[in-house]
Amino acid sequence: MSIGGVRPAVQAMPAYRPGKAAEQAEEEHGIENAIKLASNENPYPPVPSVIAAMTEAAAGVNRYCDHLAIELRTAIGAMVGTDLDHVAVGCGSVGLLQQLCLAYLDPGDNVVYPWRSFEAYPVNVQMMGAESRQVPLVGHAFDLDAVAAAVDERTKIIMLATPNNPTGKFAPDTIMTTAKQTAATGGIMLIDGAFAMPAAVDPTVGDLLAALAAFPHVLHLRSFGKFFGMAGLRLGFAIGPPDHIDQLQQRVGPWAVSSVALDIGSAALNDTAWQAQHGQFLRQQTEQLQMVLTRANLKILGGTTLFQTIHTSRAHHLHDHLAKAAIWTRKFSQMPDLLRFGVPANAADFARLSESLNNWRQETNQ
Ligand SMILES: Cc1ncc(COP(=O)(O)O)c(C=O)c1O
Repeated sequence: MSIGGVRPAVQAMPAYRPGKAAEQAEEEHGIENAIKLASNENPYPPVPSVIAAMTEAAAGVNRYCDHLAIELRTAIGAMVGTDLDHVAVGCGSVGLLQQLCLAYLDPGDNVVYPWRSFEAYPVNVQMMGAESRQVPLVGHAFDLDAVAAAVDERTKIIMLATPNNPTGKFAPDTIMTTAKQTAATGGIMLIDGAFAMPAAVDPTVGDLLAALAAFPHVLHLRSFGKFFGMAGLRLGFAIGPPDHIDQLQQRVGPWAVSSVALDIGSAALNDTAWQAQHGQFLRQQTEQLQMVLTRANLKILGGTTLFQTIHTSRAHHLHDHLAKAAIWTRKFSQMPDLLRFGVPANAADFARLSESLNNWRQETNQ
């Protein structure tokens, strides 16, 4: 008998090997001023009102926070036009994904999702001893008919990253069709909108939320780590029907979010002027990144306001070329023809990226 052995489902999981922190890579290669474009982060620090709220909240951490997170859930509800019983908060959208898997998956159940998509999906499914049904992309896009066809009576969750990471594809119309096709199957349809902007900044997001509100099996995930620029804070939320939200919020997630994160989340939502300005700024920066990539003759497959993914047979070669110039991008072993670029933080970083891409183009006659 093994004492203290991990569950067989966990034993079967590959060990998680996080990518090297940019600082560690810099130290090992004796590089300074690396440009970090590999992690989909928002390169701009949070707005001053948020930093002020953080300082204030830090003074109260001797107390437990409101485990029902009433204030923040009410503020999120007001933002998306729903009540607080339709909103759960969690430790990042990944924390909520994990809570969802904990609450709904048993061994023998299955989860259907297009692949390739976000790495956290297979990990969380496998951890519960459930089966991942990965539906291959077709032409780098979701094959949603095949997704619907893969669903059966043991399907508990259908996971759709919208927009998808890493392809950056966003297909609201076809997602509506999938919602209709899967409404009667008994599984939850999870729209992972980590990269979606607030509805007030991007009306297509509001339209999708409104259209999907009629479906009692649809849950949305959102992140404060992307648009709001607070990846390190670990705060996310879910929107959906109260019975599912209740499972996430009350059963598996009390105190999942710190008091500091709760207060900062509310402060960020209150600053609507900043949101509008920031949305416009991120769009401009994205356009600039697209320009830099297309000028270097690179074909953009898709993207969001925080990353652009290119399609080239020489993606790994380009990745290594940029790494030598201390520009970290993200390559994918299962999709060797894709390379993902985050948004550079400032004009100097844009210029360095542009120069290095041009050098590569000349060296390789692309
Ligand atoms: C599709 C998707 N969902 C969720 C996340 C993580 O979001 P959070 O920081 O809120 O956990 C990521 C991170 O890149 C992502 O790509």
